[in-house]
Amino acid sequence: MTEAADFAAFPKLELHLHHEGAAPPEFIRRLAGEKKVDLGGIFDEQGHYAYEDFWHFLKVYEAATEVLKTPEDYARLTTAVLEESAASGVIYTETFLSPDFCGGRDLGAWKEYLHAIREAADRAERDLGITMRGIITCIRHFGPDKARETARCAAETAGDWITGFGIAGDEKAGKPKDFAWSFDMCREAGLQLTAHAGEWGGPQSIKDALDDLKVSRIGHGVRAIEDLELVDRLAEEGIILEVCPGSNVALGIYPNTRCHPIEMLRERGVKVTVSTDDPPFFHSTMAKEYEALHNAFGWDEEVFGQITQTALEAAFCDAATKEKLA
Ligand code: ADE
Ligand code: ZN
Repeated sequence: MTEAADFAAFPKLELHLHHEGAAPPEFIRRLAGEKKVDLGGIFDEQGHYAYEDFWHFLKVYEAATEVLKTPEDYARLTTAVLEESAASGVIYTETFLSPDFCGGRDLGAWKEYLHAIREAADRAERDLGITMRGIITCIRHFGPDKARETARCAAETAGDWITGFGIAGDEKAGKPKDFAWSFDMCREAGLQLTAHAGEWGGPQSIKDALDDLKVSRIGHGVRAIEDLELVDRLAEEGIILEVCPGSNVALGIYPNTRCHPIEMLRERGVKVTVSTDDPPFFHSTMAKEYEALHNAFGWDEEVFGQITQTALEAAFCDAATKEKLA
């Protein structure tokens, strides 16, 4: 049996990581203590995040953000998140940043949060050798009006560091076309696009995200496996899947890694990448994801090398950054 430690040194690119969802629970508890905020029952007896199912997970996630109230809190969060990622061998990460949690989608406040996050990320790049880029993310169950405000924050701060726009949250809330205006605006601002789909929704949800939002990447997308014509379309169009096997298993979509469709999708020619999603919520790290895939499917250095190459090509960063990472 190969262990996570054996994969820690392998250089990894992660394309799908929620900034707040990567907050170590001890970090959130420390902030709660400093601010004297009672977070109620969001932790279990071992101090891990505790939730019953995906929809409860979203509530616990949002409850944890109650202690993340200032740009300085986000700077500290960024340091904590990037330290964890670097320890798992990640050299490049794209994290989902939500103006909803950073100043309530007010552009002036958002710019202050962004400045603090970027400064912390620049420090981590210098000290730990990990490069970060931000994908601004609207939250589907907050509705299309809030998504428009988020898209404005994204378009106004698009550039070499904020490089993408996406949508996360409850896939069963609304339809992708309700969010098309926001995606159109961000595309015009030069942002690259991704959407969570095919996690809690089936193949139609993925088709809608592709047709109505015109994204080049899909967050999860694993339920494409229920429609082989769609799988072939993904392969032909070179759509990238940001697959998070540990998240899907922890949330009960598949019973274990061996039953996860990532290998079938890869074998049928889909461009898959590997990420953690919200690692402490799922008791995961990038090294553990690699260990699980090795143990389930025999993925070796050659396969992981292909995964890394796919992630490099699909990364929402400029060519000079890609060259440095290659
Ligand atoms: N936000 C954080 N994690 C998520 C997930 N797995 N799906 C949708 N929205 C999320
Ligand atoms: Zn996600």
